[in-house]
Amino acid sequence: MAAQNKFLLFHKLVQKSFHICTLSILLMCVLQFQVSKSNHISGFCASVYGESAECGELSSNLKLLIKGGIVVNAHHQQVADVYIENGIIVSVQPNIKVGDNVRVLDATGKYVMPGGIDPHTHLGMEFMGTETIDDFFSGQAAALAGGTTMHIDFVIPVDGSLSVGFEVYTEKAKRSCMDYGFHMAITKWDEIVARDMEVMVKEKGINSFKFFLAYKGSLMISDELLLQGFKKCKSLGALAMVHAENGDAVAEGQRRMIDLGITGPEGHALSRPPELEGEATSRAIRLAGFVNTPLYVVHVMSIDAMEEIAKAHKVGQKVVGEPVVSGLVLDDSWLWDSDFSTAAKYVMSPPIRKQGHDKALQAALSTKILQLVGTDHCTFNSTQKALGIDDFRKIPNGVNGIEERMHLIWDTMVESGQISVTDYVRITSAECAQIFNIYPKKGAILAGSDADIIILNPNSSFKISARSHHSRSDTNVYEGRRGKGKVEVTIAGGKVVWEHDELNVVPGSGRYIEMPPFGHLFDGIDKVDAAYLSSLHAPVQRSSTAS
Ligand code: URP
Ligand code: ZN
Ligand code: ZN
Repeated sequence: MAAQNKFLLFHKLVQKSFHICTLSILLMCVLQFQVSKSNHISGFCASVYGESAECGELSSNLKLLIKGGIVVNAHHQQVADVYIENGIIVSVQPNIKVGDNVRVLDATGKYVMPGGIDPHTHLGMEFMGTETIDDFFSGQAAALAGGTTMHIDFVIPVDGSLSVGFEVYTEKAKRSCMDYGFHMAITKWDEIVARDMEVMVKEKGINSFKFFLAYKGSLMISDELLLQGFKKCKSLGALAMVHAENGDAVAEGQRRMIDLGITGPEGHALSRPPELEGEATSRAIRLAGFVNTPLYVVHVMSIDAMEEIAKAHKVGQKVVGEPVVSGLVLDDSWLWDSDFSTAAKYVMSPPIRKQGHDKALQAALSTKILQLVGTDHCTFNSTQKALGIDDFRKIPNGVNGIEERMHLIWDTMVESGQISVTDYVRITSAECAQIFNIYPKKGAILAGSDADIIILNPNSSFKISARSHHSRSDTNVYEGRRGKGKVEVTIAGGKVVWEHDELNVVPGSGRYIEMPPFGHLFDGIDKVDAAYLSSLHAPVQRSSTAS
């Protein structure tokens, strides 16, 4: 009932602002057209996407009708039309009649679903002595080509400063061509960080903070900081996130490998086994339970970590588990490849695990032990990976996935029969929008929602290759993979940006999406606090018995 009221209110607000929107969108279109022209002159499209007459220009169609597709939401599917005006879904029902000035897309026999939301990316991230090869433009262009229409990236503070980090990332994101939001990492603790967390939540639209329990000497924080951070998150209604590996033990494992003369990429997996992920996951869950604040565990890569999350659910603790595509569909055998460049591209943390973990994570996803899928898209090309040619500890950690996620999850989870199409929408967009409190603006095909939509043809097929992908990287960890189900059309903000295997995107057209605090995971937290306090039966009133 509360959710229904929230949506009615949202719908009224949308109607009220519709006229203002119409004018401002018309103005934006004129501006975007000019930006795209200058972009085209700079030759970006020619070098990345192939020369095309309309390269860089956004479709000026502001009215769209998607006809006759199977419209899928996380809770329901039906054959219907979807009518869009000025970036917003106006109506979803069968047989919508429209005038001549509306572009019609025939979706008969195809699935019409919310565009993907990737909860975990690193675009333009400075990390391990280099910077990811995909920035906000190239990474987002790749995302759109694969059916993802929004992502949430991690702001890394500058010398611990959240406000400087926010400014830096705002600048990095200026060339965005799709909607995005920010999480923020916490790398040190003092009064200024605590105050800045408040500013980020109350004024900057950030409602989640990530704590790294690994990367000793750079991003890693202590348990003491973790506790302070959890307490602050709770008071602000912000979601605490953890990278769960025991960083001290990882450092020990790395030394052990080097002492054994193991310096190649296989040393990466051997130095940080699943037990270290399980330990840190358990620790973070227990400390979040101690503070009574919800927890989001990013990139769950092992059975060990997944089982800790399952255990927490059994006692009613609010813990979200996010597997990433690499952990769901790959195994660690590539790390033993005799070619360094091939092996190094699979180095990420926590490591891709031995065969068996992938299938167990898939099963956990289908039974809701794990709730949504990210990518941890953090790409380095082969030259950057070669920084660690003599020492695996120097190989920049990260793999691609932002373009491949929607296809690989469809093929692995839906085509195989492990989940339904409605579940697919839940784990690729709706759950993310709900957790980060932007539903049903995002993650739904409902009147009033943003027109971020994909048309997926279940009878068509895809093939992945670095030769045809849209990332700037020269490698792809899913090289050669084929599967069923292809995103034929991507609509972002009401504009067709991917069609006939061609991208039509403009730097600067993406919007920053503010995410309000106190999402649904905070419901009932105060009641649990009250129950805890009354369970203490303390302080006990004692008469003074001084002798
Ligand atoms: O290897 C990874 N995961 N690189 C990105 C940074 C992180 O830990 O998320
Ligand atoms: Zn991480
Ligand atoms: Zn990450």
